[in-house]
Amino acid sequence: MKTITPSTLVIFGAAGNLARLKLIPALFRLETAGRLPDKTMILCANIEERSRERWLDEVANMLQAKYPLGYDAAVFERFRARIHYHAIPPGDDGSYLKLRELLDTDARFPRNVVFYMAVPPSMFPGIIDKLGDVELLKQTHGTRRVVIEKPFGYDLLSAQSLQKSLYRHLNEPQIFRIDHYLGKGTVQNVMVFRFANLMLEPLWNRHYIDHVQITHAEKLGTGGRAGYYDGAGALRDMIQSHLLQLLTLVAMEPPVSMAAEHLRDEKVKVLKSIRPIAQNAVNAHAFRAQYTSGVIDDQTVRGYLEEEGVALDSTTETYAGLKLFVDNWRWSGVPFYLRTGKRMAENSSAICIRFKNPPQDLLRQTRHAHANPNWIMLGIQPNDCLKMEIQVKEPGLELNTRTLSLDATYRKQDDEDVDAYEGLLLDALEGDHSLFLRYDEVEWAWRVVDPVLKVWSMEREFINTYPAGSWGPRGTYRLFDREDQFWRHSLEVGGADLQAY
Ligand code: BG6
Repeated sequence: MKTITPSTLVIFGAAGNLARLKLIPALFRLETAGRLPDKTMILCANIEERSRERWLDEVANMLQAKYPLGYDAAVFERFRARIHYHAIPPGDDGSYLKLRELLDTDARFPRNVVFYMAVPPSMFPGIIDKLGDVELLKQTHGTRRVVIEKPFGYDLLSAQSLQKSLYRHLNEPQIFRIDHYLGKGTVQNVMVFRFANLMLEPLWNRHYIDHVQITHAEKLGTGGRAGYYDGAGALRDMIQSHLLQLLTLVAMEPPVSMAAEHLRDEKVKVLKSIRPIAQNAVNAHAFRAQYTSGVIDDQTVRGYLEEEGVALDSTTETYAGLKLFVDNWRWSGVPFYLRTGKRMAENSSAICIRFKNPPQDLLRQTRHAHANPNWIMLGIQPNDCLKMEIQVKEPGLELNTRTLSLDATYRKQDDEDVDAYEGLLLDALEGDHSLFLRYDEVEWAWRVVDPVLKVWSMEREFINTYPAGSWGPRGTYRLFDREDQFWRHSLEVGGADLQAY
């Protein structure tokens, strides 16, 4: 168990969605589990003036919404004792001075402070400037850390300028960039699976692996975030961040140790090795599409262009597929296929690794269908699991083969169900950077997708479509290198491309 010195956690945007749905419930769960050190304080900041009592009522409502079956009243008493409220009305610079005074003079607030920016990214630089101006980011009497959430910029240039504005007041070790995917248990399990099991290492390379697929599919549409999403699109929203992070974990070399810098060094090496996509190769490497109306869970849902807040002529992609090559010794020639989509047939995120066929097809004569290769699949959500598909002989007189799934679902019924934010909040309070992004990771990830974004931003007349509730556009198959490669939609045996479009 991690031991952490008490800190003051200041949440900017405490009344917003992220804080309401994720941060406050995660902190409450940590309280329930006895993981918040005694003197840790939570100072919630937002633009409205409110009394502490009123804010505590709102916190109770947030928890009520999250845990409708109720929660432990004694734990809540402990939790509410930590919570305070501070108003920062727009344009009121004096409120930052008051914040400093509060943190400097009120002995209830520990001097190690973590500022969590649960606000739209466009507001990060302004808030950080104000904190810097009143010297709240100087580490004279305690540590000062800042947590920010993706998107880190809009493209390479804007990421660089965001970075410049952060570096005016902060140095790199003070910055904690969250990619909440790294807080997911199965995502961390990719490292355990690879580095705690020697039997896989000899196979984990271009000699045995045919290709890697990384998928994030969700049934949800814009989810009320059209304002942000229509300016971002699937490639920026999911692939530049979460899916490229997953790729780095699958592809990286074993790090010197699990220390943050060693891990991040290896991830950056992978990103640097990704072959740049030339402008004239974008269509061969990337595919985009937008959902039209369709049926999900027996409900008819609107098409993207009919969603509130989406421009009528928007060509923003709600589906993106990408083929990448990691040009290094281990992975040369192995395609990594990444795809993500909103309003898809299922909520499902997984890493599927397909192995090559054996060098000689000795069983060709006895088989009715084509040979099935081995697969290793790591299900991330909705169920975290690990599956391996192998071939066995069917019982009976003939030498027929059948695919068997070795299902190593490791979650036990009463295993703890931990939200990504619980671990990440603890890590930020403790100062552990392992699961946070270093700036060079962000920058190299932008370098990967930037050429595609540029071409797509110029080609605004046409976008492919797919019906909501499907597995995406058929045209995405042109990304595959060979005819016997296809998207794996399910982790069940036979779960390859069998679904109707
Ligand atoms: C966010 C994206 O980063 O991740 C959302 O902005 C997406 O569009 C979400 O829905 C997916 O996260 P999760 O944890 O639900 O898989």
